[in-house]
Amino acid sequence: MTGHEIRRRFLDYFKEKEHRIVKSSSLIPSSDPTLLFTNAGMVQFKDVFLGNEKRDYKRAVSSQKCVRAGGKHNDLEVVGRTARHHTFFEMLGNFSFGDYFKEGAIEYGWEFMTGIVKMPEEKLWITVYKDDDEAFRIWNEKIGIPADKIVRLGEKDNFWSMGDTGPCGPCSEIHIDQGEGIGCGSPECNVECDCDRFMELWNLVFMQYNRDSKGILTPLPNPSIDTGMGLERLSAVVQKVKSNYESDLLKPIITYS
Ligand code: GLY
Repeated sequence: MTGHEIRRRFLDYFKEKEHRIVKSSSLIPSSDPTLLFTNAGMVQFKDVFLGNEKRDYKRAVSSQKCVRAGGKHNDLEVVGRTARHHTFFEMLGNFSFGDYFKEGAIEYGWEFMTGIVKMPEEKLWITVYKDDDEAFRIWNEKIGIPADKIVRLGEKDNFWSMGDTGPCGPCSEIHIDQGEGIGCGSPECNVECDCDRFMELWNLVFMQYNRDSKGILTPLPNPSIDTGMGLERLSAVVQKVKSNYESDLLKPIITYS
């Protein structure tokens, strides 16, 4: 599958599940002084999560152009050091505004990964926020992931915030083990390692709070869902190449002469 086909399949999959396809918004957020660049698919929906704006749909899907070159989500320092980071990328995301929550997001995520893009189940690992027993149970009991492949991690890895302030919540990530030949080569390498072997593909955020400038968390009017998956990463894995830069989305730019 080409990168363009993967994007199309993602949008179509969620359209069939009654999500509205929403265009990527500008890289410069139109009315958000807290961000210099759009750093995630949820940015254009911030006010919907906060309950300040109503739309005529409760489910959305997008492929959002993002830049992570500063602020809370800054990939600049690792560009060139990993095979999976670049400051500009496209983020595939599905969103629920007070509609489905953890169970729906996990079921859709698993079905898309294993049923549509055919990721090998045995290579997938899951992380959940350290005390999120509900997400752990859904993965373990409903989806059937063995307990030893569901790893509980802390705030740094499994609690997502768009910036210093704004919507946030615990999250659950789908990682792929790309095998011993990729990454640091350490026998201790695991899903917590920063190398390319256990690569995060998809982040499912269970949006539950708004963080204010004093760091205080207030519950959102409705628990919601925000997910983010890098199109270039997914394309590299589907196309069985070792780096995002070798995917068909980026390689033609690099080899252009
Ligand atoms: N908003 C989810 C993510 O950026 O991972």
